[in-house]
Amino acid sequence: MEAAISLVAKRISWILAAILFLGVGAGDFRADSPQDQAPKNSFSTSSAAGKIDFISRCAGCHGLDGRGGEHAPNIATKPDVQHKSDGALFAIVRDGIPSAGMPAFRALLDAARIKATVDYLRVLQGQHAAFPLPGDPMKGRALFSASAGCSGCHMVNGHGGFIGPDLSVYAGDHSAEEIREAIVHPEQDPDPRSKAVAVVTRDGQKFAGVLRNEDNFSLQVQSLDGAFHSLEKSDLKSIEIGPQPVMPRDYGSKLSSSQIDDLVSYLTRVAQTNAPAVSEQPDSRHDEDQ
Ligand code: HEC
Ligand code: HEC
Repeated sequence: MEAAISLVAKRISWILAAILFLGVGAGDFRADSPQDQAPKNSFSTSSAAGKIDFISRCAGCHGLDGRGGEHAPNIATKPDVQHKSDGALFAIVRDGIPSAGMPAFRALLDAARIKATVDYLRVLQGQHAAFPLPGDPMKGRALFSASAGCSGCHMVNGHGGFIGPDLSVYAGDHSAEEIREAIVHPEQDPDPRSKAVAVVTRDGQKFAGVLRNEDNFSLQVQSLDGAFHSLEKSDLKSIEIGPQPVMPRDYGSKLSSSQIDDLVSYLTRVAQTNAPAVSEQPDSRHDEDQ
């Protein structure tokens, strides 16, 4: 078991080394550069004020993250709401939708505070970097694609590895804190989907990678080059399945806290850049939230 896992680990580090060596992915990250150069928002003070009103006036029904609660719908990641203009959102908050249980706030909040609350809602929707990112997205990009080796396993905007989930829009519906936890404490993933696997067939072929599917008779392995291998168990001499998620568990000690902030900022920036295109796809992940 241990031997097989270290075999997978070795292959993974070999692949990462090869990727770094070949410079694959060096041109991956152009898509987000305009925003990197010119932060476009000018209302960070306003949305910071709006946060206070949002927490005290809206969160009780819509949730602290705006993604809905027992009493009210998701207004953060639902495309319908994201696509409404600032003016339309302003009117909803001012006038309410009394027949449906959305109160009017015109008596409680003046126009400036309603506007600030809408600005903060935009922040929750991930459309503006109104709050300072925790770190430096450019440094995070370099870590991601080079020194920390993330892109060996994770795809961003079509470039990177197949072993881990695609992270192009991951930050769109995960908070900075959740992203940080996913990097530092992958073992706490309540629902680990990926296990390392190494198998040897009766005729001596070896496959190492990630276990994608398994039933009584067969299993499917995705090797580190992305290829899928469907194997009959009866053809296999040995199967070793690692108990841990494949995501390395030592980033918390290998990377400094500010490097992790840089990675969080990079993933947040990438997701912001990708947000409009994503919410237009009919079966994007946002639909699950409706
Ligand atoms: C008492 C619970 C409650 C509170 C407090 C509340 N809302 Fe709502 N809100 C609702 C409900 C219920 C709806 C759904 C109305 C409907 O079905 O059309 C709604 C709808 C909305 C919508 C439109 C959603 C859509 O799908 O078009 C927006 C935007 C919104 N609320 C923003 C806010 C903001 C901002 C605040 C705080 C200033 C707030 N709400 C406070 C209950 C609440
Ligand atoms: C050896 C491959 C590998 C490397 C290297 C790697 N990851 Fe992962 N990562 C994974 C796998 C596999 C998962 C899915 C874990 C699971 O649920 O089983 C994952 C999960 C994640 C998640 C959560 C995604 C989700 O959908 O739940 C984030 C965020 C993440 N990784 C970020 C990073 C960052 C940032 C780095 C670099 C510092 C990195 N990963 C390096 C393999 C890797």
